[in-house]
Amino acid sequence: MKGVALLPDTASTFAQQVDLLFWFLTAVTVFFTLLIAALVLYFAYRYRRGSTASRAGAKETDLRLEIGWSMIPLTIGLIVFVWAAKLYADAYGPPPDNALEIFVIGKQWMWHLQHPNGIRENNELHIPAGRPVKLTMISQDVIHSFFVPAFRIKRDVLPGKYNTVWFTPTKPGKYHLFCAEYCGTQHSRMIGWVYVMEPAEYEKWLASGGEARPGALASGAGTMAGVPTASLVQAGEQLYKQLRCNACHGAADGQRGPSHYGLFGKKVKLRDGTVVVADEAYIRESILRPLAKVVDGYEPIMPSYEGLLDEERTLQLVAYIKSLKKPLQTAEVKP
Ligand code: CUA
Repeated sequence: MKGVALLPDTASTFAQQVDLLFWFLTAVTVFFTLLIAALVLYFAYRYRRGSTASRAGAKETDLRLEIGWSMIPLTIGLIVFVWAAKLYADAYGPPPDNALEIFVIGKQWMWHLQHPNGIRENNELHIPAGRPVKLTMISQDVIHSFFVPAFRIKRDVLPGKYNTVWFTPTKPGKYHLFCAEYCGTQHSRMIGWVYVMEPAEYEKWLASGGEARPGALASGAGTMAGVPTASLVQAGEQLYKQLRCNACHGAADGQRGPSHYGLFGKKVKLRDGTVVVADEAYIRESILRPLAKVVDGYEPIMPSYEGLLDEERTLQLVAYIKSLKKPLQTAEVKP
């Protein structure tokens, strides 16, 4: 520990941009505070009672002055507004296509993180530097909030709804992960570490199944080291068969249910005429509450899986359905 850090580490591209805005706001604030304080003191002294300073030519009003003190703050306010809105939209909007996708489940009182290849971690996240990382997050119980100060990102993790956030870590190192939403008695202990690794080191870590964990406690409750875990998609496929989803959802649209091949990202027309995009949230809802959005041309006959699947297994199913690309040979079977 070297003293008290005034600012957290700056370890993502987003952090650099947020800091720039922060310092701009600080500079504007300091400038006007000093300017106004100096003028107050100066005028208070110069025009104090008994002073001989000339008071001749004093005006009731001055239009230029009034326009000036309205327009300058307005302009600065608008600059800050547009700047901050753009930063916000960047961070909470869609990530770049090459983003590494990590699934996050928050529960009282731990973070459960899952890599696409099946590696799971508890309260630890290993990621490579220099590559965008997208987090798809959900809570198993109450509202939590995923907060990594060094990346300047914080996003609520809600029960029943996928929230996403993305960032590009820039600097290898070890960074604090917090829960930033009071979520019960052990909220303050719902903390962890994010390890940003050199890409080559990260590849090694991945290949070892998450065992090579530089900097991590050997006996920590981190990855389930040594346990060969199926990838998210593989686990989802198994579950898909086990639940017999394929009985109604085939390679092509069928009598009972629409096909899942090529579904992800597609626009889907519903019975009531509205059109929705088949994203993670839509797929999740259609598994848990299939009657909420029934696809046009189908009867509301699918049973609900709410209460039967926990968030982890739901994620696996969503990942599998996302992975189903349209089969090439059977182009447009149905009219
Ligand atoms: Cu989870 Cu506070």
